[in-house]
Amino acid sequence: MVNLPYFDTLLKLLAQDRLVEKPFGKHVHWGFWDQPEQATLSTDDFIQATENLTCKLCAFAEINDGMTVLDVGCGFGGTLAYLQETYSNLKLYGLNLDIRQLYRAKNNLLQIPDSPYLLVNGNACSLPFPDQSINCVLAVECIFHFPDRALFFQEVFRVLKPGGTLVFSDFVPKPWLAPLTQIKLPRPFGFHFYGHCQFDFTVEKYRNLAKETGFSEKNELDITLNTLPTYRFLRRFARDVGFYNVSAIMETTTAELVSRLGWLDYLILSYRK
Ligand SMILES: C[S@@+](CC[C@H](N)C(=O)[O-])C[C@H]1O[C@@H](n2cnc3c(N)ncnc32)[C@H](O)[C@@H]1O
Repeated sequence: MVNLPYFDTLLKLLAQDRLVEKPFGKHVHWGFWDQPEQATLSTDDFIQATENLTCKLCAFAEINDGMTVLDVGCGFGGTLAYLQETYSNLKLYGLNLDIRQLYRAKNNLLQIPDSPYLLVNGNACSLPFPDQSINCVLAVECIFHFPDRALFFQEVFRVLKPGGTLVFSDFVPKPWLAPLTQIKLPRPFGFHFYGHCQFDFTVEKYRNLAKETGFSEKNELDITLNTLPTYRFLRRFARDVGFYNVSAIMETTTAELVSRLGWLDYLILSYRK
């Protein structure tokens, strides 16, 4: 079952307000500002930041022409569209739990013989793909939603060809923050705008899990500072479109606070089979 109130809200806003299409109709992630101190926070600035993050992840994944790439939690297909525009002769798969997002993703993608794509409605923890069939699995800003990271890693390991890579981005807590992220507040004070999210996986936990699963090489990049202008952009944008939601404000503000304090990092991580 899909329980992601922020996507319910987004889909409703996308249907009502044309202002929302440009910044959130393609990518739904935090973005990457090359020079955060020079962020103008305009919509175009944010769109550029979202393209930058996608570009950064694909470069980290060392994607090359001719590869088979699976984008897990593909949202509205922004990453797949970037791959189609940037590389040749790819075989692309997008997987998402939420079929409404896949319908929208179709509008962002080209049905071209050069890099054909297939969108699949399914769960990241049970990948409907054969063993050793994929060169690269991407999971852009979605792993914290998955019901079980260990199962996801096992599934990715199974579907990857030898030498293939898993690349994802995640909000990663410092060790002392991890236990606090487990505390459940009673509703109405419990957070729920972003749905089921678990931010308890530290870098050390990821390294251990990758090792236990059988992955070898690792690569980690801390881009927290490059994501911080997003919070100011979201505040400005919410004001402009008249969106107000207590839970959204509380959750986003908490994330901003712990990120600015250096307790929650935004990382790009990669592991090779
Ligand atoms: C923050 S959005 C990121 C979307 C996209 N990767 C992007 O960068 O635009 C998180 C995505 O994860 C998807 N998702 C959440 N749980 C999932 C699961 N168990 N299996 C597959 N997709 C899932 C959501 O539907 C949503 O599209």
